[in-house]
Amino acid sequence: MSGHGEPQPMISRKAAPLTGVAEVPGDKSISHRSLILGALSVGETRVRGLLEGDDVLATAAAMRAFGADVARNDDGEWHIRGVGTGGFAEPDNVIDCGNAGTGVRLIMGAMATTPITVTFTGDASLRSRPMGRVTDPLALFGTASYGRTGGRLPMTLVGAAEPVPVRYTLPVASAQVKSAVLLAGLNAPGETLVIEPEATRDHTERMLMGFGAKITSEDTAEGRIITLAGQPELRPQSIDVPRDPSSAAFPVCAALIVEESDVLVPNIGLNPTRAGLFDTLRDMGADLTFENPRDEGGEPVADLRARFSPDMKGIEVPPERAASMIDEYPILSVVASFAEGQTVMRGVKELRVKESDRIDAMAKGLRANGVTVDEGEDWWTVTGRGPGGVPGGARVEARLDHRIAMSFLCLGMAAQNAVTVDDASPIATSFPVFQSLMEKLGASFQKESE
Ligand code: S3P
Repeated sequence: MSGHGEPQPMISRKAAPLTGVAEVPGDKSISHRSLILGALSVGETRVRGLLEGDDVLATAAAMRAFGADVARNDDGEWHIRGVGTGGFAEPDNVIDCGNAGTGVRLIMGAMATTPITVTFTGDASLRSRPMGRVTDPLALFGTASYGRTGGRLPMTLVGAAEPVPVRYTLPVASAQVKSAVLLAGLNAPGETLVIEPEATRDHTERMLMGFGAKITSEDTAEGRIITLAGQPELRPQSIDVPRDPSSAAFPVCAALIVEESDVLVPNIGLNPTRAGLFDTLRDMGADLTFENPRDEGGEPVADLRARFSPDMKGIEVPPERAASMIDEYPILSVVASFAEGQTVMRGVKELRVKESDRIDAMAKGLRANGVTVDEGEDWWTVTGRGPGGVPGGARVEARLDHRIAMSFLCLGMAAQNAVTVDDASPIATSFPVFQSLMEKLGASFQKESE
């Protein structure tokens, strides 16, 4: 699956009860950061459990283009020999980040305070997404950018030769923007401050600390103030990437809606800035348990057990939880379709600028499959039809968006009639083993041409 070649239409039919163990791949956010921070360190960083999806592989290729040595052992361990903060060389070609918003925005930050000129591009989805949210704060360091109308890729950044430190309050709740500013701050003298009114995923802060940067976070009335001392020497690390809660969401949610299911998803990262979906599912009445909670490599992890939950009720999702489950609203809306009553999701306008406009993509696809959805600019509601109550039967568009494709394949697993996704290839960006993993549990997928 590649997302750049021929579309791969996929049919999902009613699944057998889902049972067994689902070993989902490594966390996408932590995988990107491992490669980038490894490339900015002096010495060799080792990474086990790296997500080998297209998004992360594009970041690995980019780090090589900036001069880092990035290699994978036969046993699956990755080794990154870094060039040190400020040590990036100018790539001799365009940096193509594929579908990855996280990849391109973090790499823009990482090169922004080094005097090199870099042109970035990506696939049709990434080329439609706003980059101004990153290039605006990077301009404060002294970085120039030249992109298409609306701040779109392809875009060229000229790194600041004499960067100044920055104090920046995030205008949108975005970990990508926060991380871009912090990574740029690494090669600026003095202290760079980021103020985030709403907490977003904090992997960059945790990992920077692990790599030996001087970074502090303080919760104040203004929000969380993150202070980074510039120009540290980053020390290489040995990293075990926890499994991705955003990928775990698919087998977990499928188990909740497919009759008689009982699935164990081991070793899932449960950083509180990422775990909002699981709180929401429990509030809805999902049978979800966390076994063996523990700490691994500075991140909380546990084994998740999910069982068929016929008594789930629609709820109003607390808007303050949005950032901690931002990638999970599409699959939540599928679960909500099988609950009793209405699920209300507010404060979610960021969903409109993800790999696709996720509110629009899910609303159209769910309606086509017999579910009532209402929407406004920053809210949407799904009216559940109860267990087994979704008619299904429609063909939906994935819009180059892996999470939309996976959400509708999960819908088909519990709907009365098969659901067809027009292109499953984007799934390879974040969850390359999705199809085999779900089929092993009990899913019934079929290529449309077969
Ligand atoms: C990510 C941050 C989020 C999320 C994305 C990964 C990250 O994006 O949607 O999948 O790794 O920092 P925003 O920063 O745009 O909210």
